[in-house]
Amino acid sequence: MHSRKVSKAIIPAAGLGTRFLPATKASPKEMLPLVDKPLIQYAVEEAVSAGIQDIIVITGRGKRAIEDHFDLSFELEENLKESGKEKLLNEIRRISELANFCYVRQRHARGLGDAILCAQHLIGNEPFAVILGDEVLLNTPIRGVYEVEAEEVSRYGIIAAEPAGPRLFKVTDLIEKPSLQEAPSRLAVIGRYILPAAIFPVLEKTPPGKNQEIQLTDALRALARSSPMHALLMNGIRHDAGDKLGFLKATVEFGLKNPELGDRFAHYLKGLKF
Ligand code: UTP
Repeated sequence: MHSRKVSKAIIPAAGLGTRFLPATKASPKEMLPLVDKPLIQYAVEEAVSAGIQDIIVITGRGKRAIEDHFDLSFELEENLKESGKEKLLNEIRRISELANFCYVRQRHARGLGDAILCAQHLIGNEPFAVILGDEVLLNTPIRGVYEVEAEEVSRYGIIAAEPAGPRLFKVTDLIEKPSLQEAPSRLAVIGRYILPAAIFPVLEKTPPGKNQEIQLTDALRALARSSPMHALLMNGIRHDAGDKLGFLKATVEFGLKNPELGDRFAHYLKGLKF
């Protein structure tokens, strides 16, 4: 078997973001800023740093700001040029040159599995990456599963697995948002996947599952029965920035790590009285 390089990433961004209402009523969740960059830009930069050039964003109604963010902004660039704000100008230009962008509309938010299926015609027969922009990761090059607290299992896709090497697991089953009693482990699937094109025919046959949505986890479960599937345990920090508390935690961590603001922000936090 020869390995093929992954050159395309799908970033699903068509969800309704109900956990973050009312902020997400008219603005995309993916455009919420962590310090000074929208969530989706972190996802794109992560893909690019992994060597991916083609980014397929799945969008829907009310998500136009995402396309504008990765496009040229002629007036803004002219304005920054005239006022001599060279550093900002370069930063703004860099965003539109980050990757080759392509947008596909998901007409109804029918679930993550359905969102991925919308890009089938752009993927062809290659393996591809999926990056969920509302999950932000710190300090880790390893992607896969993450150990969660017992009371958190019902919020994630959970795997049943056998050890297959250092931090590596062979996935034997997956279950979306199980109760603590149903959960086969505390290993939660995180929003980073490398999938084979064979997932598409499986997704096409996947009926609506939890929340009446077409769940990627259900399709992965079917796929794991017919071909080997592996998961890597990640040891960094993961935040679900699509959730209000997760977003606050991510903001604090990214704020502390920011080279321009980190020291002053740490000083401010230390002075807070609880
Ligand atoms: P989430 O469940 O985290 O996002 O889906 P959501 O549905 O927007 O949020 P809540 O639960 O209502 O608050 C994971 C990812 O899949 C995308 C979302 O945009 C998010 O990045 N997604 C989800 C789609 O693109 N289409 C869908 O139909 C559902």
